[in-house]
Amino acid sequence: MTIFDLPTPALIADDEGIAENMRRMSDILRGSSLRLRPHYKSHKCAALAHRQIASGAAVGMTCAKLSEAEDLIFSGITDVLLANEVTDPLKITRLAELAGMCRLTVCVDDADNAAALSEAAVRAGSTIRCLVEYDIGMNRCGARTAEEYFRVASAVARLPHLCYDGIQAYAGYASHVISASERETATRDNERKVAALAEYLRARGLAVSVISGGSTGTAALKSAGGVYTELQAGSYLFMDTTYLPLGLPFRNALFVLASVVSRGGGTVVLDVGVKGIGADQNDPVVLNGRGEPVLGTCVLHEEHLMLYGSEWAPALGEKALVIPGHCCTTVNLYDRIWLYRADRVADRLEVSARGCSR
Ligand SMILES: Cc1ncc(COP(=O)(O)O)c(C=O)c1O
Repeated sequence: MTIFDLPTPALIADDEGIAENMRRMSDILRGSSLRLRPHYKSHKCAALAHRQIASGAAVGMTCAKLSEAEDLIFSGITDVLLANEVTDPLKITRLAELAGMCRLTVCVDDADNAAALSEAAVRAGSTIRCLVEYDIGMNRCGARTAEEYFRVASAVARLPHLCYDGIQAYAGYASHVISASERETATRDNERKVAALAEYLRARGLAVSVISGGSTGTAALKSAGGVYTELQAGSYLFMDTTYLPLGLPFRNALFVLASVVSRGGGTVVLDVGVKGIGADQNDPVVLNGRGEPVLGTCVLHEEHLMLYGSEWAPALGEKALVIPGHCCTTVNLYDRIWLYRADRVADRLEVSARGCSR
């Protein structure tokens, strides 16, 4: 069976492309002290998490949600970083239970939250590992100053059944900067701030063993920088049109297969809209039968992708590969990913953490 026999829209992934992207990430990290902790949000597929770890390239997984952590842990992954704060009492209880089953790390930016985590871990008889988050320009979570950071981190270090491991500092604003020199400037600025914080903490007797963050767009820079110890890149496995203009050494390995349902007057319509392709960061790109990008203006409705002003003249019903604008939000729309090799369907992977948004 080939991918072109699948009913559309279908989410398909090129097995060789995935393998090549994994090799290329290993090449980037070879010789540096940066360890890969891939972000689960990009594929949400336990089978792929196991493949990343079994290859020896990844030390564990990063995830965004407690329910994603649970999915990873119940699939047998033993080292998970939940790169967000957890404050709901029921979730804290669950987190403490899960921490008894594996090495589980969570982010903290508040001393009261640390106390609640500690109480739950004491009750569960587990140890919750903590990274205290530092806000290095995201204006999201994290301590804003070194003094505030130290207050929270020393509370974590003192509290029973918590273990302070180090710093979470994600500089997402640098990830998609197209200009390589501007991306480097933003990354070096980020590293300077984090290195200064680590020095401040060590001077006050706090050991910082982990500095975690980074993305697909900053992987090579972080590898050379020598400040971070863990890289949380996710999109490198699949890539998307948002990362495409950066010219990174990864190739597109995730596509939505769609069918032409209408055409004429310079308009081609495919049967996939925002319910089948993530376009929250950038427009998708349609490929013609020769694998070349089709030019035209892309407009997405719920169930339709319109290409206006295109010179492409496909047959009605013709199937086309579409590169998603954003791989992470695309994956979350599907129950399964069809893995293929040379157009032949090779496997069907469950998107096991689909909809795990809690
Ligand atoms: C906490 C965190 N780490 C890492 C990443 C990097 O992901 P990617 O490599 O897909 O850009 C993200 C992306 O949003 C993130 O939120």
